[in-house]
Amino acid sequence: MGKINLLGLEDLSAEEIINILDTAEQLKSLLKSSRKKAQHLQGKAVINLFYENSTRTRMSFELASKYLSANAANITASGSSVQKGETLIDTARTLNAMSADILIMRHSMSGAPHLIAPLVDAAVINAGDGMHEHPTQALLDMLTIRERKGDIKGLKVAIIGDIYHSRVVRSNIYGLTKLGAEVSVGGPATLMPKGIEKLGVKAFNTVQEAIVDADVVMGLRIQLERQKSGLFPSVREYHRFFGVDDNRLKYSKPDALVMHPGPVNRGVEFSSSVIDGPQSVIDEQVTNGVAVRMAVMYLLTMGSFLPKED
Ligand code: CP
Repeated sequence: MGKINLLGLEDLSAEEIINILDTAEQLKSLLKSSRKKAQHLQGKAVINLFYENSTRTRMSFELASKYLSANAANITASGSSVQKGETLIDTARTLNAMSADILIMRHSMSGAPHLIAPLVDAAVINAGDGMHEHPTQALLDMLTIRERKGDIKGLKVAIIGDIYHSRVVRSNIYGLTKLGAEVSVGGPATLMPKGIEKLGVKAFNTVQEAIVDADVVMGLRIQLERQKSGLFPSVREYHRFFGVDDNRLKYSKPDALVMHPGPVNRGVEFSSSVIDGPQSVIDEQVTNGVAVRMAVMYLLTMGSFLPKED
């Protein structure tokens, strides 16, 4: 059995994505049980290697590993020998030499996990690489949409915000379009990548046009740490022109889901009334993050994202 990795949703088929979601749905029942312990990853070593900050992704991978009985460990760049000048490749090789079975990586450089994956025996999971992909985020988003709406095929999903810098949007575009959703993206022209339509989406420069009749309105964080100056005048003006408040939300369907990968900048991407309103499923996304990460790690150790043949 060769090793497989999860580097991005661009590489997965619709069948593989659906099998991950089905597996996550089954494993999710563990989160509601009083014991929260299963043996799917017993004896496996899982290492979280994070070069960027994280609350949701890192903690949910750690909890998911522990709920499935893996030996889980965390390392951050700020507390490691990276600070003494060790390269990414040498750090990854060092962790691999400790018999890691799964290496979960977040890095500011697009392509960092792709660089490491062929050099280590461990299965590599991309937990967010620069502006490229964040596959487990899109999988948990799709699980949340499927749970609430029954099927993803035929839904209109509007994704609003900083499209240019977002790895979440790229993974969602790959995943959602493979499962038959119609995806529109909206945001300032300065934060809209040229040629985004080639990925099979419609692009708009007003929120109203992007979210009209949407079944799902997903906001993206304004990534202040990746902004060059001058892409939008100020956070206040961004909210005035592109923030989703109760009035703008009315352009979407009355039962549209409000989603955000987090962390949210309150009063910037969404008003607090939208974040805390009845259409918001942001907390469900976080819960589903644990379920999806259990599923991905389990299927990686099985050697395939495809369903088992009977
Ligand atoms: N959505 C997401 O990746 O959140 P964290 O940065 O907190 O992991």
